[in-house]
Amino acid sequence: MSSFSAVDVIAAKRDGATLRDDAIVWILDAYVKGDVAEEQMSALLMAIFFNGLNPHELLTWTDCMIASGERLNLQGLSRPTVDKHSTGGVGDKISLILAPLVAACGAAVPQLSGRGLGHTGGTLDKLETIPGWRAFLTNDEMRDQLERVGAVICAAGQGLAPVDRKLYALRDVTGTVESIPLISSSIMSKKIAEGTAALVLDVKVGRGAFIKTIDRARELAATMVSLGSSHGVATVAQLTSMDQPLGRAVGNALEVTESVEVLHGRGPLDVREVTLGLARTMLELVGIHEDPAAKLDDGSAYEVYRQMITAQGGDPDATLEVAELKDVVLSPQDGIVQSVDALNVGVTAWRLGAGRARKEDPVSAGAGVMCLVREGDYVEAGQPLFELFADDDDHLTSGRESISHAVTLGEEPARGGRILLEKISAK
Ligand code: URA
Repeated sequence: MSSFSAVDVIAAKRDGATLRDDAIVWILDAYVKGDVAEEQMSALLMAIFFNGLNPHELLTWTDCMIASGERLNLQGLSRPTVDKHSTGGVGDKISLILAPLVAACGAAVPQLSGRGLGHTGGTLDKLETIPGWRAFLTNDEMRDQLERVGAVICAAGQGLAPVDRKLYALRDVTGTVESIPLISSSIMSKKIAEGTAALVLDVKVGRGAFIKTIDRARELAATMVSLGSSHGVATVAQLTSMDQPLGRAVGNALEVTESVEVLHGRGPLDVREVTLGLARTMLELVGIHEDPAAKLDDGSAYEVYRQMITAQGGDPDATLEVAELKDVVLSPQDGIVQSVDALNVGVTAWRLGAGRARKEDPVSAGAGVMCLVREGDYVEAGQPLFELFADDDDHLTSGRESISHAVTLGEEPARGGRILLEKISAK
C-alpha cells in the first residue's frame, strides 16, 4: 500500500508547503498508472499554478517527467549536437532555415518538433506541405540522418516524456497552461530527453506571443536555462520580440516558400536577422567559429536544406499547393503604419484555415496571410496591406472579418523596435 495520499499532496501544495521528493515521484508515477484521478491532478496543477514550485521541487518534477519515457542517446556522432526551441510566434518559420544553416556550419541539429495549435503555426505542418515529406522517423533513421546530413526536423516520438502529453492536455482544459514551472518542465523535459548537448531557447515576447511582458519572459527564460544546465545541457535563452509577425508570410506553404527565399540569401530582413542571431548563439555554444551569414549567401545552407527534405522523402523542387481563393485588403486612408498586430494576423491565418482549434483538426496547406506592410511604412489610401488566401468562401469571409483591425495607422513616425532583445545564460 502507498504511504502517500493524493489529497495530502494536493493540500500541502495548496497551503504553500514544499513537496518532498518522494511525494513528487509518487504522484507523477501514480498519475501515469491511472491511480491518481484526473480531477486530483487538476487540483494539484491549480495549486502549483498559484503557489509555484521552488527550484528543487521543479528539478525533481522535471526529472520525473524525463524518467516517464525514453532518453535518446546522440553521443558518438562526428559533430556536436545543438538544438533550438521557440516558445511560438506568428510567422515563425525560423527552424526551417536555422537547422540546415547550423548544419552547414558543422553542427548536428536534432529538431524534434510539433504541430501548431491556436494562432501560432507548427513546424511539422509547414514541412508537410512539401509533397512526399514525412514527419515520422525511427530513432535510428534520425541518428543516421544527423550523421549524414547534419539536420533533422521530425515529429517528437511518443516515447519522450510521455507524462507531458497527459499533463499538457489536462492543463489545456483546466486553465493551468500559463504557469512558469509547468511550462518550463514541459518544454525542458522533452528537450533534455531528446539528447541534445546544447540548446538555444527562443523566448518570444509581445502581442503575438503567449508571454506578453519582458519580466515574465525573463523569468521563464531563466527557469528553463537553469533546468537545462542542471541536466548537463549547455543552454542559453534569446528573448525576441513578437509584436508584429516575423517576415511577410503567415501560413504553412507560404512560410516554406519564404524560408527558401531566406536560404537563398534573400527574403525579409527580420527573418534573416533572427535566424543569424540564433545561429551565432548555437555555434558559440558548441565552439564552432563559422560565419553563418556566409553560408546563407553562398548557397551551402540551401544545399543542406535540400538534402534534409530529400532524406525524409520530400521533393524540394515540387510546386507547393496554393489556396483557391485570394482577397486583397486595402488601406482605408493615408498614414504611417503604427503597428501590425501579430496576434490579429495569427488569428486571421488560423481562421483562413492555416491553423487548428483542436489537435485532431486538419490544416490547409495553402491558406494564410501575406503581410505587405511593416511598422513605420507610409501607406496611401487604397494601397494593399494584406493578401488573404483560403480554400473556400466561409474561411475567406471569416479571415476578412478578423484582419480589419490588424493595422493601426497614424501620423507619428514609427519605427519597429529591436527584434533580438536580451540573452539569458546560466548563472
Ligand atoms: N510548449 C510546451 O511544450 N509546453 C508548454 O507548457 C507550453 C508550450
